[in-house]
Amino acid sequence: MCTKRERQREVGKGEMTTTPATLPLSGGMNVLNKGAQRTVLITGVSRGLGRALALEMAKRGHTVIGCARSSEKLKSLQIELSSASPSSQPNSISTSSSSDDRHLFMNVDVRSNSSVEELAHAVMEKKGVPDIIVNNAGTINRNNRIWEVPEEEFDSVIDTNLKGIANMLRHFIPLMIESKQGIIVNMSSGWGRSAAAQVAPYCASKWAVEGLTRSVAKELPSGLAIVALSPGVVNTDMLVSCFGSSSSLYQTPESWYLCFHPSLLVQLSSPFWHHILAPNE
Ligand SMILES: NC(=O)c1ccc[n+]([C@@H]2O[C@H](COP(=O)([O-])OP(=O)(O)OC[C@H]3O[C@@H](n4cnc5c(N)ncnc54)[C@H](OP(=O)(O)O)[C@@H]3O)[C@@H](O)[C@H]2O)c1
Repeated sequence: MCTKRERQREVGKGEMTTTPATLPLSGGMNVLNKGAQRTVLITGVSRGLGRALALEMAKRGHTVIGCARSSEKLKSLQIELSSASPSSQPNSISTSSSSDDRHLFMNVDVRSNSSVEELAHAVMEKKGVPDIIVNNAGTINRNNRIWEVPEEEFDSVIDTNLKGIANMLRHFIPLMIESKQGIIVNMSSGWGRSAAAQVAPYCASKWAVEGLTRSVAKELPSGLAIVALSPGVVNTDMLVSCFGSSSSLYQTPESWYLCFHPSLLVQLSSPFWHHILAPNE
């Protein structure tokens, strides 16, 4: 387990913060000025932060494209989304999907480049280029010192948290460049800027996400923006894995989503991005 001091250090970084990536400020604003209805692609929507975010976005009338590996949980999200819809329009969520479905949900393992490529094809066919992509899918190693972490577990953390994002960027940035706009949010962590014992693979992956994001920000043309976001500390399966029973002391994903309203994305594009704090801080 992490030491109490390490936990407090992480909790101290519990505010929602963004990486000082060199945001092409005008880029994000194109998307944000477009109007209230946006198409938001979120990876890892079967539980935790991704699920809460998908529900909230749908409730606010945005079109949600989501993916995860668990079909059962995607189906349960489908049922909940139907009641979260702001209108009487049916929200048929599909893993296969018909063209008139409002939202699009697919079984995708972000570790697989070909799986992400299929997602990109389906998205283009059914929804067009997303306005916003939230690369949220993530995993953490079981608490262990690095020499006790099995090779396959280390690989899975890097393959999901880092290479999964790279797969998404590989297939979606060219589409966004073509449409000359788009915002990409890469889910980082307080442990993307600090260190803790027993979670070295996870820390390594999130530090890499920070570096990847800053570099890509320098590559994007005007019209596009990319940022790494540390969501704070939220009581999800992932937190239970590293904090144990004390994870119940932290905010739920349902209260967390309030911090992630698209208005936040407006602020992400402002020079004051580094002052963004979660409302409950
Ligand atoms: N919770 C926190 O306090 C906290 C703090 C800092 C950063 N974060 C970051 O926030 C993000 C969400 O975390 P969370 O706490 O909500 O985690 P979580 O409850 O464990 O949920 C993780 C989500 O990612 C999906 N996922 C995992 N591996 C995947 C893969 N290979 N392909 C597609 N989807 C995959 C899972 O779905 P399936 O298993 O169905 O695929 C699930 O929907 C992560 O990037 C995490 O590092 C969380």
